[in-house]
Amino acid sequence: MIFRQLFEPVSSTYTYLLASEATGEAILVDPVLPAWQRDLALVAELGLRLRYTVETHVHADHITSAARLKREAGSRIVYPAIDRFPGVDLNIAEGQPLAVGDLALEGLATPGHTDDHFAYRIGDRVLTGDALLIDGCGRTDFQNGDAPALYRSVHDKLFTLPDDTLVYPGHDYNGRRVSCIAQEKSRNPRLGEGRDLEAFVKLMESLRLPYPTFIAYAVPGNRACGVCPEGIPEALRIYCDAAEHAA
Ligand SMILES: [Fe+2]
Repeated sequence: MIFRQLFEPVSSTYTYLLASEATGEAILVDPVLPAWQRDLALVAELGLRLRYTVETHVHADHITSAARLKREAGSRIVYPAIDRFPGVDLNIAEGQPLAVGDLALEGLATPGHTDDHFAYRIGDRVLTGDALLIDGCGRTDFQNGDAPALYRSVHDKLFTLPDDTLVYPGHDYNGRRVSCIAQEKSRNPRLGEGRDLEAFVKLMESLRLPYPTFIAYAVPGNRACGVCPEGIPEALRIYCDAAEHAA
């Protein structure tokens, strides 16, 4: 398998490029709008053909480049099972892996950060989106977030994977890139170390995080599969496609 982890600094998002060496077909998981040219350049450099873009969830902190990549490269737009948005080409369901060449991307319904959230397992790796971060987890206070659901998703779906499964998160704000299930089970300060459901819920309720600055634009933008909404303030244009705005 060809595997690349790409970092987008505006929203500290990791995008993952996965491709079959046998057929040259590729998937991008959680591509980010301002980085679409970078991603397509890498696809071209590696001699690949982009078949799918896949979302872990409807993001509140960035807009996907799914629609742009579809336009430029002919890729199909894949969202988790419950997101029946008009622009989606394919909804991935648990138990129905997305096959690309000799690869199979297995969706794991992991609600809690959002109600639509999926993690994706591929071989000995799991892309955990915002359900499980390295030494952390996504917040649960908007987009139908639900702390008990997140606890169950992580404990029942992710912590039951083999201990040496590599954990690739959707974000990291401190430059960390990869962990593994054993490490998160043993030392994740929110969900590991034997922390129980009640303690986790209490902790998540006590966070009092600031309301995300971009959510009012990101959510409609992502429900439209990657449209930068009209009327976006100048200061937030870095979240959109600079080339498109210059045009
Ligand atoms: Fe998120």
